[in-house]
Amino acid sequence: MLSLPLALLFSLVPLVFTSHNEDLRRSPHHHGQSPQSSVTYHLKDHYTGKAFMNESIWKYRVGNDPTNGLVNYVSHATAAKEGLAYVQNGVAVLKFENRGDLPLNKPRNSTRISSVKTYSSGLFIADFARMPFGCAVWPAYWSVGPNWPNHGEIDVIEGVDTQSTNLISFHTGGSTACSIDTTKNFTGQVSQPPSGCKTTSSNQGCGFWDSQTSSYGSGFNAAGGGVFVHLWDNSKGISVWHFPRSSIPQDILSGKPNPALWPAPVAFLSSSKCNIPTHFSSHQLVIDTTLCGGFATAEYSHYGCPGTCPGFVAKGSNFNNVMWMINYISVYQPV
Ligand SMILES: *[C@@H]1O[C@H](CO)[C@@H](O)[C@H](O)[C@H]1NC(C)=O
Ligand SMILES: *[C@@H]1O[C@H](CO)[C@@H](O)[C@H](O)[C@H]1NC(C)=O
Ligand SMILES: *[C@@H]1O[C@H](CO)[C@@H](O)[C@H](O)[C@H]1NC(C)=O
Repeated sequence: MLSLPLALLFSLVPLVFTSHNEDLRRSPHHHGQSPQSSVTYHLKDHYTGKAFMNESIWKYRVGNDPTNGLVNYVSHATAAKEGLAYVQNGVAVLKFENRGDLPLNKPRNSTRISSVKTYSSGLFIADFARMPFGCAVWPAYWSVGPNWPNHGEIDVIEGVDTQSTNLISFHTGGSTACSIDTTKNFTGQVSQPPSGCKTTSSNQGCGFWDSQTSSYGSGFNAAGGGVFVHLWDNSKGISVWHFPRSSIPQDILSGKPNPALWPAPVAFLSSSKCNIPTHFSSHQLVIDTTLCGGFATAEYSHYGCPGTCPGFVAKGSNFNNVMWMINYISVYQPV
């Protein structure tokens, strides 16, 4: 989710498959063990249920969408009153308004929340039971620093329209571009030649396509959702994993996450090609759903969606059951 309108995007370029040709995993003790072996993490912040309804913990953006989406973001008070933000059986629900039809190009009320706390490293575990998706819909779970893009952006979940797998991206500013080290071990497919993560009008950052349909949209929801983890380690890099509901590691379920035991991440921005703390700091976590905007509009017909993007938005019944259902987000720090 880019934070500025102008940089918004570009048709997604054809996928360039990158082979994962070097095993840099170092530990002799566990096959596939990552360099994070032997680190113990303790829980620092646990967000669940009502925490997502509390503006002193998660702030609701009010007003327009900086990515030019056809939405009007509303406060928690309005969202609660209009049934766009609530807790059901302990699960936080966030959605956009779809009760009726609207005139063409009239924005729908929607929700975009940002953590009040900011982070400059850590292990972030997000469990979603359901995510929004479909024609015109552009959901994202991401994090971003204050002076975009200079403090970086990490897009953990992002997609548009009927996209079938998740796109993970890193965006950086500054004159020293970060890039993807393709000699590292990750399972995602690099979305464009790894020329750099610097975000300009012609650069969508460093993207990695997940290969599993359980990572996004209908496949994610059919799998009962799942867990996304990003490990932001200023000395090693930023890794992102996705685990479908049926294969969440036991150490995550038991609250003792141990990345050293997990398979290779889907995405990895290595410190070998990016000075992480220089380009990423003071991030707020963000969850939002926008409609159309640069990205979902650009890809609208590519994904076989009918008519025009604003035309689709005008009909409320196109969006039944389109929502985020958040079980929890936990933030761990190394001991
Ligand atoms: C990458 O890591 C996985 C799991 O950690 C391991 O099974 C695989 O052999 C590694 N692949 C390469 C090419 O090093
Ligand atoms: C919202 O969170 C703040 C900070 O944790 C807490 O002091 C306050 O009691 C919470 N409000 C409600 C209504 O739960
Ligand atoms: C949308 O939000 C505005 C506040 O920004 C509110 O006045 C209006 O009633 C809401 N409309 C719907 C249809 O929920």
